[in-house]
Amino acid sequence: MLSREPVPQDLIVRDDDDIPSNTSTAAPFAAVLEARLNRRGMLGALGSTALLGVLGGFLPRGAQAAEDAPAPVSTLTFKDVPLVHDASHHVAEGYDAQVLIRWGDAVAKDAPAFDPAAQTAAAQAKQFGYNNDMIAFFPLPVGSQASDHGLLCINHEYTNTPLMFPGIADEDSAPGAITVEQAGIEIAAHGISVIEVKRTDGKWAVVPDSTYARRISLAETEFTVSGPVAGHDKLKTSADPTGTRVIGTINNCAGGWTPWGTYLSAEENFHQYFAGKNGEPIYKRYGVSGKPAYGWGRHVARFDIEKEPNEPNRFGWVVEVDPYDPAAKPIKRTALGHFKHENASSVISADGRLVVYSGDDERFEYVYRYVSTGKVNLEDRAANAGLLDDGVLSVARFNEDGTVTWLPLVHGQGPLTAENGFNSQADVLLETRRAADLLKPTPMDRPEDVEANPVTGRVYLMLTKNDRRTPDQVDAANQRFNNVHGHVIEMIPPGEAGAVDHTAETFTWDIFLRGGDPEKRAHGAKFGKGTADTGWFANPDNVAFDPQGRVWIATDGFPDFDRPDGLFAMDAEGEARGLSKRFFACPQGAEMCGPCFTPDGTTLFLAIQHPGEGDGSTFDKPLNRWPDNVDGMPPRPAIVVVTHREGKPIGT
Ligand code: FEO
Ligand code: CA
Ligand code: CA
Repeated sequence: MLSREPVPQDLIVRDDDDIPSNTSTAAPFAAVLEARLNRRGMLGALGSTALLGVLGGFLPRGAQAAEDAPAPVSTLTFKDVPLVHDASHHVAEGYDAQVLIRWGDAVAKDAPAFDPAAQTAAAQAKQFGYNNDMIAFFPLPVGSQASDHGLLCINHEYTNTPLMFPGIADEDSAPGAITVEQAGIEIAAHGISVIEVKRTDGKWAVVPDSTYARRISLAETEFTVSGPVAGHDKLKTSADPTGTRVIGTINNCAGGWTPWGTYLSAEENFHQYFAGKNGEPIYKRYGVSGKPAYGWGRHVARFDIEKEPNEPNRFGWVVEVDPYDPAAKPIKRTALGHFKHENASSVISADGRLVVYSGDDERFEYVYRYVSTGKVNLEDRAANAGLLDDGVLSVARFNEDGTVTWLPLVHGQGPLTAENGFNSQADVLLETRRAADLLKPTPMDRPEDVEANPVTGRVYLMLTKNDRRTPDQVDAANQRFNNVHGHVIEMIPPGEAGAVDHTAETFTWDIFLRGGDPEKRAHGAKFGKGTADTGWFANPDNVAFDPQGRVWIATDGFPDFDRPDGLFAMDAEGEARGLSKRFFACPQGAEMCGPCFTPDGTTLFLAIQHPGEGDGSTFDKPLNRWPDNVDGMPPRPAIVVVTHREGKPIGT
């Protein structure tokens, strides 16, 4: 059974790029750690013997010998990738993993060939951007379930100056060293790519000269702002006195897609791009410090908040892109809130309304849910155009009794009034974080992807880590202080599979797994019984589900424990629930992003982000040159396509 011992945490891992800016909430609960580690008291109170049975499947590996029952058998039949951490990527036996597109490859028809020694901003604006993250597959033709032809929308989250350009010593000196042309290249390397891909004779390739292909970049693509915050005074700039038109999108991390076939891209760490002093109170809560990680503000006025004080407010939104219409202007959907959106994954609730889940990825930030006012129309794409502008955003409070309460962020309700500085719904949404603080939600251990399992309707929340949680800040949902390994929460909305009510005010929740080595008691890890040494992981970031509803988790930070980041798969239900297996391992320096299946589950697209990144790794002397391995060619973030050699479903 589950360990009842308190979990000592003695590992310390620094994560300097994630400085918490939520100083508004003390620990919401102050009870004993042991009580939080094991919520059987709560389960008993709920009388949920089914859940107890499910929990019984989770055991530290060390405890297995004591169990007489035979080891559970996973429905995932592939053999774990061995523990290798080198300059290559590795996939389970019997599979191929081919590079599909890399940083600098052509996206637009007239893109020039990539020359890393003579790169220009104009070339980059037509080429595949840097640091691919989220991937979504949209079948062609539109409305079909095709699995051999479609469009991929891919996020380019951030750039890595020392690895992109010669002569830059390290990240710290990069902002001061970067030239105006290099700043232009980095700006153009941010954003989104839309590419057309096709499988011919079993092999996937990018379709050249596609009429759908386009770069949506931070450099030149115009976005419309829609929803309650459009036109807000705090969104107005000298280039856009209306506060309704923004050039570009920034730090696009994960995202999602809508049932009507549009792409949702999440603007995450927008704070780190803006230079200069500014006393704007809003910025404190978002960490816009004026000391950016990038040197653009010296060259481009809109990244200098002394010149354009409102520019940062124009980022930190969810954007919607129609991949099927290259002429369609992308839209910033302000009704979904303003924060460091990790993702925006949607699901149709039992009554036909659209629900979008989104995490705010920073230590001690919150989990959000948007519920549309209108219902989804699957017969008429255009009829859904307003669903992401009119709805209610709520924030989650995880209660100790095993329930989660969704607290609506509605102007005029509770503390969200003029007395607290909120004169309209637009004010509430612009300052989503401060508004949420007043409702006392649960500060979490860095909420990354939060997404509904399409088979069961249960919602999985990745909490990547939080090394700043102290013993008196642990709570039922964030059970470990100095949580360096991260964990996964399963939220259970009411209703049976197929008719799940994602709009309900109250769900139940439980811990699905806790990262760490199950053999090391001090880690307090929790995986399904039978998880091998190759199968455990830490730092869950992205999640995807195959057509059978099995859970595929991509990690970001596992190298802190001397293991490569990669992709891990497990059953969500049954005797092998939570039994994790290693399917893919990244090359050194890289993290795993964007797992994305075709509708038939026979193809898996993966994003290899920041290969070769690491202390002292530069363009001139990189840690590796993945994937080209050619002298003079730096490492290149790339999309890899994985297929089974006999065409079987992924996971076989
Ligand atoms: Fe961009 Fe939260 O990872
Ligand atoms: Ca992420
Ligand atoms: Ca990440």
